[in-house]
Amino acid sequence: MGEVAVTAALPGRALSLLADQHHVRVRPPGAPLAGRELAAFVGDADALICLLADRVTAELFALCPRLKVVADYAVGVNNVDLEAARTSGVWVTNTPDVLTAATADLAWALILAVTRRVVEGDRLVRAGGFKGWRPDFMLGTGLQGKAPGIVGMGRIGRAVARRADGFGMRVSYTSLERAPPFEAMGAEYVADLDALLPEVDVLSLHCPLTPKTRHLIDARRLHLLPRGAFLVNTSRGEVVDEAALVAALEDGHLGGAGLDVYEREPEVHPGLVGRSNVVLLPHLGSATTDTRAAMADLAVENVRAVLAGSVPPTPVVTPVVPRR
Ligand code: GLV
Ligand code: GLV
Repeated sequence: MGEVAVTAALPGRALSLLADQHHVRVRPPGAPLAGRELAAFVGDADALICLLADRVTAELFALCPRLKVVADYAVGVNNVDLEAARTSGVWVTNTPDVLTAATADLAWALILAVTRRVVEGDRLVRAGGFKGWRPDFMLGTGLQGKAPGIVGMGRIGRAVARRADGFGMRVSYTSLERAPPFEAMGAEYVADLDALLPEVDVLSLHCPLTPKTRHLIDARRLHLLPRGAFLVNTSRGEVVDEAALVAALEDGHLGGAGLDVYEREPEVHPGLVGRSNVVLLPHLGSATTDTRAAMADLAVENVRAVLAGSVPPTPVVTPVVPRR
């Protein structure tokens, strides 16, 4: 029997099933934890299941010598010091695959909402502004024949690319790894992001946040997009220089933006809030009932495996010498 610390209650039955075999401690709702506070909560636990806003650092591994696995309840693991985990003997796992379709769907929801002015139209109707159909009323931008550009052709980027076909769009993408099956279907690989941007009508971001991708989309790159292009971000807010994004919206260069994530989440740049050509969501990429339960199942499976001395199903970090 091991001890498992969980920083928030999770949907589905996974935690209660885990509690049949292990001692499970769930933190009551509160602000995300970091540093010594998180270490105090983890204490002598063998496993930690945490959220993407909890910051897991080298200090935690030093202060919690019994900790063997950090099961991040997310696909993006930028909240964890991965190198410190590796050298401290701690597994890090994430929740890939189970959230791919939900996140790709939400990227398309943002693409459609911002190009067809869905949220703006809803607000107008509620405010009593609908005075009847007019030929030139609230015109948006059609998707058919337009070029979506995908940054990061991992699982989610590929799922977004597959959906593009249904809208009659031909994908261009840039990624660390090429995706030959998509090239056979007509997707164009552009090795250099700077060369991709001028060709793109809608840029959708699906790369992980790493030191290399922080502010990948900055003022210079935003202005490499054609005038009137749209930016959609369902990855991590820090991939975009948010102040530069606001400036590119203000100077009219961008046609609009659809954002699920923010640079200083949950804070939202005040320059975004008042703009009608921006659609803002509260980090809902994986937020379906089924997906969030499946993420809990997978996080728990990872914990169970490590506590049983086995290799977890979805490791991000395999420790040099796993702690016993
Ligand atoms: C959500 O943002 C995730 O990384 O799962
Ligand atoms: C996420 O899993 C991705 O690969 O895009």
